[in-house]
Amino acid sequence: MKKLAITGGGPLDGEVRASGAKNATLPILCAALLSDQPLDISNVPHLEDVTTTNRLLGQLGADITIDEKYGVHVHAQNLTSHEAPYELVKTMRASILVLGPLLARHGAARVALPGGCAIGARPVDIHIAGLRKMGATIDVEAGFIDAKAGRLQGTRIVMETVTVTGTENLMMAATLAQGETVLENAAREPEVVDLADCLRAMGAQIEGDGTTTIRIQGVDALHAAKHRVVPDRIETGTFLVAGVLTQGRVKVRDTRPSLLDAVLGKLETAGAEVSTGDDWIEVNMHGQRPRAVSVHTAPHPAFPTDMQAQFCALNAVADGVGTVTENVFENRFMHVPELQRMGADISLEGNTAIVRGQPRLKSAPVMATDLRASASLVIAALAADGETVVDRIYHIDRGYECIEEKLAQLGAKIRRLNA
Ligand code: EPU
Repeated sequence: MKKLAITGGGPLDGEVRASGAKNATLPILCAALLSDQPLDISNVPHLEDVTTTNRLLGQLGADITIDEKYGVHVHAQNLTSHEAPYELVKTMRASILVLGPLLARHGAARVALPGGCAIGARPVDIHIAGLRKMGATIDVEAGFIDAKAGRLQGTRIVMETVTVTGTENLMMAATLAQGETVLENAAREPEVVDLADCLRAMGAQIEGDGTTTIRIQGVDALHAAKHRVVPDRIETGTFLVAGVLTQGRVKVRDTRPSLLDAVLGKLETAGAEVSTGDDWIEVNMHGQRPRAVSVHTAPHPAFPTDMQAQFCALNAVADGVGTVTENVFENRFMHVPELQRMGADISLEGNTAIVRGQPRLKSAPVMATDLRASASLVIAALAADGETVVDRIYHIDRGYECIEEKLAQLGAKIRRLNA
C-alpha cells in the first residue's frame, strides 16, 4: 500500500501550476457519449478517476486515445454496451454521469446504484426523478438503475436540493431531448459551466449555466468538438492553504482567481496577503502565523465543501478558535480523528468542528479516508514537527495530479513510500 512521508518544517516558498479540474473532466468525458463524432479534450489531469472513467467509456464501446501532452480523444461512434458495472461504480461514484448521456443517445442505460461512501449517503434520487420527468422509465432493482426511453421530452424540472452531478446528468440528457428543458435550482459550480461550454462547442443549445435556471433547447445530434478543461479550483485552493499554514509564500499559475472568491476571502481573513492576475494567485504570510477563521460550506458561490478539510488543518495551527460547519454532506469529518492524532485540538458538535489552534502539530502515522481528507492530512503534516506518514494515499491520487512533485517544487520534504 502506497504511503506519503512528509517532514514538516519551514515555510513553503515557490510556484506551482494548477492542473485541469477533475470534477469538470469527468462529466466532459461522459459527454462524449452524446455524439457519434469525436471530442478532443485538453488540460486533462492525470488522475486515477480519469483512468477509471476512460475504462468505463471503453467498456461502453468508445475509442479512446491519449496523446503525449495528455489530451484525450474520445470517439463514441458506436456504443456496444449500455451498462456501467458495479466494479467501476463502487470505486468512483461519478460513474453515474454516464446515465443521462446513455439514455439520451442510446435509449437505454443500466448503471449500478452507487452506495454510500465515506462522506455520506449520497443518493441519486434527483437524477432519477428528473429523467423520469423527461419520459424515461426507470426501475431501481437489485442494486442497478435500469432506464429506458424513446426520445426524451423537454420539461421543467425543479431539483429539490442543489446537486452538481444531478444538474450535469440532466443537462447532458436534455441536449438531445425533444423541445425545451428548464432546470430550476441548478448547481452553479464552475464545473457545470465548463461542461455547458463543452456541450455548446458540440452544438448544444444551453443558456443560463452559472445561474440557478438553465434552459436547454434539444437538438437532433451533437457534433465533433475540442474543449480545454477549466483549472482545478480545489487543487489551487489546497496549495494556497498549504502556503498559508506553513507561514510561507505560494504562487499558483494557470488558474483562475474568479473561481475562488469565497476561499480567497477567508485566506485574507486568516492574515494572508493575496495578490492575483488573470491566471495566477499568490498568497504570502511573510512568516506570520495565520489567524483562525470560521467557514460554513454551501453550494457555489459560497464556501466549497471540498475545501473544508483543508481549513480544519489551517485552523489547527492558527492563532485563536475557528469553527468549520459542513452543510453539504452529513459525514465529512473523517479527517478530524486523524488530525487529533497529530495533536490538533478539535471537538465536533453536530455538523460543526470547533478548532482551537496550536502553535505546532506533532508527526504521527495517519490514514487517508477520502480525497479531501487526505489532502488535509498532507498539508497538516507540512506544519508538524518530525516525519508524518500518511497511509492509503490512493485516495489522494484520485484527485491530485503529481501531488508530491508539486509540493516538492514548493520546497516541501515529501516522498512516496511504495511499501
Ligand atoms: N443529493 C441528494 N440526491 C441526489 C443528489 C444529491 O440528496 O440525487 C444530496 C447529496 O447527498 C448531498 C448534496 O445533495 O448532500 C449535494 O451533493 P451533490 O450531488 O452536489 O454532490 P455530487 O454531485 O455527488 C460533486 C463533486 C464532489 C463535491 C460535491 C459538492 C463531482 C464528480 N463530485 O459531487 O466532489 O464535493 O459535488 O460540491 O463533481 C471531491 O472532488 O472530493 C468531491 C467529493
